[in-house]
Amino acid sequence: MKINIKINNLNKTFNIDNYGISLLDLLRREGYKSVKKGCDTGTCGVCTVLLDGKPILSCSLLAIKANGHEVTTVEGVSEEAKIIAEYITAEGGDQCGFCGPGLVMAIMGLKNENLEINSESVKEYLAGNLCRCSGYEAQHRGIMKYLEVEK
Ligand code: FES
Ligand code: FES
Repeated sequence: MKINIKINNLNKTFNIDNYGISLLDLLRREGYKSVKKGCDTGTCGVCTVLLDGKPILSCSLLAIKANGHEVTTVEGVSEEAKIIAEYITAEGGDQCGFCGPGLVMAIMGLKNENLEINSESVKEYLAGNLCRCSGYEAQHRGIMKYLEVEK
């Protein structure tokens, strides 16, 4: 079966032999290695990508469900990712970075929503993006500054 997905603004066609392959595994197979594989059970958030502008866990979506849709990975927002990383680093939150791509995509999703931005709403929105290095406070300060300045 062939499926078509617009990834980072480019139309792509993929051959799917295994209908059970997740979007995460398809993306990584096709070279989008920024999309990290952590728990693979929908609980850590490191595999977050945007599907039609909304954050989803790519480990929990069959690749065939993305047929005809638009997917954005951190490769598609690399400039914004760099800026977010600078804000987090400035607050002392630079650690191993494994959670970074998923976190950036969740922040992009947050910006696409019409949410009131305050410390609690941001914490709540990003609660599914776990960081094994556990530097949440510094990360959060950096993210809040980014959201305040780069609206
Ligand atoms: S790898 Fe998808 S939520 Fe953990
Ligand atoms: S910075 Fe290491 S997992 Fe978050």
